[in-house]
Amino acid sequence: MKIFLIGFMGSGKTYWGKLWAEAGKLSFFDLDALIEEQEKKSVTKIFEENGEAYFRQQETAMLSTFSNKENFILACGGGAACFNDNIKWMNENGTTIYLKANANQILERVLSEQNSRPLIKNLNKAELLFFIEQKLKEREPFYSQAKIILDTKELNDKTLSKLLNP
Ligand code: S3P
Repeated sequence: MKIFLIGFMGSGKTYWGKLWAEAGKLSFFDLDALIEEQEKKSVTKIFEENGEAYFRQQETAMLSTFSNKENFILACGGGAACFNDNIKWMNENGTTIYLKANANQILERVLSEQNSRPLIKNLNKAELLFFIEQKLKEREPFYSQAKIILDTKELNDKTLSKLLNP
């Protein structure tokens, strides 16, 4: 079982990924955390010092290391599915699950953690909502290529096991 969790910042990929991995006896990984470990700096620092293009390269390279792993859930950063044909690669190499949230839900979730997210760090609340709405529109065509789409309002700790063992 190889599961790639995708979706916008604040959609709960890390939260649900950890819970579901534990329930399903799968390993949990977080793509951002793996990149931070390798680069020995935070995603925010990588964006500041190396630029977004560099981060996207690292993201794609780190993703490719999962071709020879098994039995895992990988929480991917919000942009991971939207660059370098990564969504195609994920679909060819495992099961993609899109955690679908609307702009207002995302706004509430990310407001408290803005500083750890370089793309939204310096925006006020109104700008943030506008940014989320625009980016969601732009990214939806990538996210919606996922094999499974789950509405974040309907998730619980058994969602994944029910899905896998109906
Ligand atoms: C990003 C989302 C972040 C992180 C980086 C860029 C994006 O991950 O990869 O800040 O482009 O949406 P989360 O979705 O885990 O916040």
